[in-house]
Amino acid sequence: MKVLILGATGKMGGGMAKALVGGPHELYAVTRDPTSAKAEALKSNGVIVFQGDFNDRESLDRALAVGIDSVFFTIFPDLQGGDSDLKQAQNIIAAVQAAGVKQLIYGSLIYPGTEEGFKAIYDTLEPTNWVKLYFDRKLELDQLVRDSGVQYWTIIRPPTFIQNHVLPESIAFIYPDLVTKHQFKSTWDHNVPQWYADGAEAGKFAAAAANDPEGLHQKEVKFGVEALTAQQLVDKLSKASGKPITLYQWPEIELKEALATNPFHITCDIVSKMGFDPEIGNAEKYGVELTPISEWLENNKTGTWLGA
Ligand SMILES: NC(=O)c1ccc[n+]([C@@H]2O[C@H](COP(=O)([O-])OP(=O)(O)OC[C@H]3O[C@@H](n4cnc5c(N)ncnc54)[C@H](OP(=O)(O)O)[C@@H]3O)[C@@H](O)[C@H]2O)c1
Repeated sequence: MKVLILGATGKMGGGMAKALVGGPHELYAVTRDPTSAKAEALKSNGVIVFQGDFNDRESLDRALAVGIDSVFFTIFPDLQGGDSDLKQAQNIIAAVQAAGVKQLIYGSLIYPGTEEGFKAIYDTLEPTNWVKLYFDRKLELDQLVRDSGVQYWTIIRPPTFIQNHVLPESIAFIYPDLVTKHQFKSTWDHNVPQWYADGAEAGKFAAAAANDPEGLHQKEVKFGVEALTAQQLVDKLSKASGKPITLYQWPEIELKEALATNPFHITCDIVSKMGFDPEIGNAEKYGVELTPISEWLENNKTGTWLGA
């Protein structure tokens, strides 16, 4: 089978490529910059890399013209509340339909929007609330995949990525104080555990879908490797970094400011209120082996604040 991975230089798509390298499929990827180190690494693993952009339909058509059977994609949400993410998804799905691709695999988010806790919170949000815009778009993209008309579709639903707490580009946006003050300033409810996993492991489930399109057809695969309270996560970060990380207790005024202005903090606060689903685990059922969080942290010290 010919498998095209959109976002193969990213976490989910990169994890999928890694899981599929070595056969039996022919692997293809699209990136905006085929000369990047990540694109070069894909090429050296036998992946055929096309230059392209989700905004440029013709570039997607060119990649699909080699006779692709299966396409994976994920899309970063438009954080400005615009519809660039929707347009990209529509471009990808229209290209997939036109090329007669048999399988569509989509990397989404753990919450499908059907949870009772989700509905209760969702109905209280103002139409302009960032979280409402974010979830509306996620639900819309999920539905585009279900309605795409391809023979087989699968949606992968990863939990919070452990990378958010480690990679420089995520830290700068979400948790800068982890590095500068060794404080974990999180608006997750400190008493409610959250599911975590290496984002690249979503790619292992996507690979399982490519290996068994029929078996995973119409499946929406939620997974998580460990459910941790904020303090349990802090303990793991302290151990891996060798630095005494503290769980920040927000002064009321500062918390109010964070919940008014920072999309990530607003999301964590609201998602905490949705409640905790203990049933998510899910790996064994799909023959996927997941990496425990402590092990992932231990393996990712080089070049991150953990090892600095
Ligand atoms: N962070 C979390 O905790 C979390 C949890 C669950 C779900 N998610 C979801 O995960 C998704 C992001 O996935 P990820 O973290 O795997 O991605 P990522 O690591 O941020 O990488 C983004 C990928 O998309 C490609 N890309 C972006 N814009 C493109 C464009 N215009 N044209 C072509 N390629 C483009 C990039 O390729 P090039 O740069 O090479 O072009 C790159 O391969 C989001 O939808 C997010 O909501 C995140």
